[in-house]
Amino acid sequence: MRRILSVIFVLNSLSTSTTAQLNILAQLAGKKYFGTATDNPELTNTSYVAQLGNTLDFHQLTPANSMKWENTEPERGQFTFSGGDAIVAQAEKHNQLVRGHNCVWHNQLATWVTEGNFDNSTLLSIVENHCSTLVKHYKGKIWDVLNEVLNDDGTFRESVFFNTTGTAYMGAAFRAARKADPKAKLYINDFNIEGEGAKSTAMINLVKQLRAEGVPVDGIGVQSHLIVGGVPPTMKANLQAFAALGVEVAITELDVRMNLPVTPALLEQQKKDYKTVIEACKAVPRCVGVTVWDWTDKFSWVPGTFAGQGAACPWDENFVKKPAYLGIIEGWLI
Ligand code: G3I
Repeated sequence: MRRILSVIFVLNSLSTSTTAQLNILAQLAGKKYFGTATDNPELTNTSYVAQLGNTLDFHQLTPANSMKWENTEPERGQFTFSGGDAIVAQAEKHNQLVRGHNCVWHNQLATWVTEGNFDNSTLLSIVENHCSTLVKHYKGKIWDVLNEVLNDDGTFRESVFFNTTGTAYMGAAFRAARKADPKAKLYINDFNIEGEGAKSTAMINLVKQLRAEGVPVDGIGVQSHLIVGGVPPTMKANLQAFAALGVEVAITELDVRMNLPVTPALLEQQKKDYKTVIEACKAVPRCVGVTVWDWTDKFSWVPGTFAGQGAACPWDENFVKKPAYLGIIEGWLI
């Protein structure tokens, strides 16, 4: 009955208007949210902000940059929350959930951490203090506690944290976060873990190991920065394998980039790719939600990083919905 009602609702709104509904459909599929990343400079664009607050599409926001270490603790012990606070305030206006991003990452890290030559116990206490302060300030959130700690071959990524403490910083970060807010959902987040493979196997082993040690890992974030035509065929099975560990799973940074210029054929394939990802999350009960890494090509990170590539988001740079938008709808309806 619920499914029939949802289909009627969708068909009705599709035929009568351009009403957006990515989040409505996600919730009808039993998920907690459909969401998007956003960034502080974007909040000056009024049309952008209007759509960002459209809860038919988005019930969750992730700050793309402002909660990262270089922005929150640029000097030791001196915390600056203004950027993150602005995004939380924006989310609160519309009762949207917030995903804190992130506590510990090798990138966009403050130089005092990388260049401090700290010993093991000092660095562990720095990690604990950073995670604890962030998670306490932003209570009641979902958190990417660890971001990108694995290499593609499944080995541990070298970073100031790994090189100094081995894997001890991982448990320290999670434990500090749990203590700071027992209700926060705590995730480990990474890319290239969408399909089965060495890195996904390493993630499974790591989460198993951490949880066996009593480290409070609640979820695995699967970033999903994908390339048109490149959704791994094993994505559904892989998400299921993560979920079988007893943790939540979330698609945390979805986008599907292409070689420019945009063509109708590429847009059609991109639509299929978005649909495939959504179907995979839908099929796995413990997959709780999907976040796109910004909803419009106007503010996508892709062209700045991959020369000649872009058009990765479900809306184009003029805020017009692309076929990908319909792909997401179809994915939820499957
Ligand atoms: O803030 C400076 C600004 O002062 C300066 O004028 C400008 C000139 O380039 O750079 C600005 O910093 C940029 C920053 O975003 C804020 O806009 C950096 O150059 C740029 O490299 C940085 O990119 C971010 C990237 O992470 C860094 O790795 C992207 O916006 C952000 O979307 C991206 O997000 C990551 C996730 O955190 C983790 N997973 C992958 C994902 C995509 O790379």
